[in-house]
Amino acid sequence: MSLIRKSVEALEGYTPGEQPDDPAIIKLNTNENPYPSSPKVAQVMRDMDAAQLSRYPDPVCRDLRKGLAELHGCSVDQVFVGNGSDEVLALCTRAFVENDGSAGYFDPTYSLYTVLAKIRAVGEHVIALNDDFSWPIDEASVELDKDASCTLFFFTNPNAPTGRLCPRAEVKRFCEAFKGVVVVDEAYVDFADECCDQLVVELDNVIVARTLSKAYSLAGLRIGYALGSLPLIEALYKIKDSYNVDGIAQAMALAAVEDVGTMRANAARVVATRERLVERLAALGFGVCPSQANFLWVEPPGMGAKEMFDALRANRILVRYFPGERTGRFLRITVGTDADVDRLLDVVTTLCRDG
Ligand SMILES: Cc1ncc(COP(=O)(O)O)c(C=O)c1O
Repeated sequence: MSLIRKSVEALEGYTPGEQPDDPAIIKLNTNENPYPSSPKVAQVMRDMDAAQLSRYPDPVCRDLRKGLAELHGCSVDQVFVGNGSDEVLALCTRAFVENDGSAGYFDPTYSLYTVLAKIRAVGEHVIALNDDFSWPIDEASVELDKDASCTLFFFTNPNAPTGRLCPRAEVKRFCEAFKGVVVVDEAYVDFADECCDQLVVELDNVIVARTLSKAYSLAGLRIGYALGSLPLIEALYKIKDSYNVDGIAQAMALAAVEDVGTMRANAARVVATRERLVERLAALGFGVCPSQANFLWVEPPGMGAKEMFDALRANRILVRYFPGERTGRFLRITVGTDADVDRLLDVVTTLCRDG
């Protein structure tokens, strides 16, 4: 007899992008920010007194939530802080899906959602995106209306791995039609032209999930948060681990949020580099999906995506390749510094010429 639950035994766990030790490798594979976080974050770290670690941290992150509530113009009670937004997403699958229910998402999207559903052994309602990776909003709403089991829907915006942004009005229409909870996963929204944070003020069934891992350059800190109506946020607080966010991370995250200008300046630099990269890759014949994120979803010309992935790797450049019917023709390339992107362009130009 197995000691492991059947659903866990059958599970193929989430595969994170590679984190190589070699600093000479150009890492364009995990959508991290190439620029440093606010100097105020480093200052908090320097000022930290190790003696404080003998005490438990604030279990409900009051100061940080106050900072986040001010940033988003909502009440402190509408903010939940988690150990990365991955924890927020996991808690949502625990709080909002019955054991015999299901969670929904568009495909392709962030590959954690299917893992979270499988861990809970609940059903999955997968809705294919259109051929150009835009959203079939109204068809999806009609289809979901017939599935009473689906009480949670993950709507990634901008989407990953495509980078496309669904206009706010369409997201709102989807949320209004859906009877369960919609988690609008805005991990990349700081690189986009518009966001949906105000939907949590307008609608009771929406959670907006955010992270400090991308635009705030703090992936190593593990801070994510959710905005939502009081009953939804209260439900997340009921089921979280007692001390889910450590005290050092709370203090450093607050410093980052209070200096939102540094994050916005870094995001603007990334966006400028993104636009340059789009132009250059398009000129080389790449198919480029319109991106509002810090990465591009591209189809290489003249050679397969896996072939180009391997060739880039041989040149010490890491990008992301997702095998599969919908995704296997594409590469996801994180926007790095201008120097990283220049090196990438040199290599792909040679590959396209010789390939
Ligand atoms: C769409 C999406 N949501 C959430 C996350 C998780 O972010 P965090 O580092 O806050 O757990 C990622 C990370 O890659 C992501 O791509």
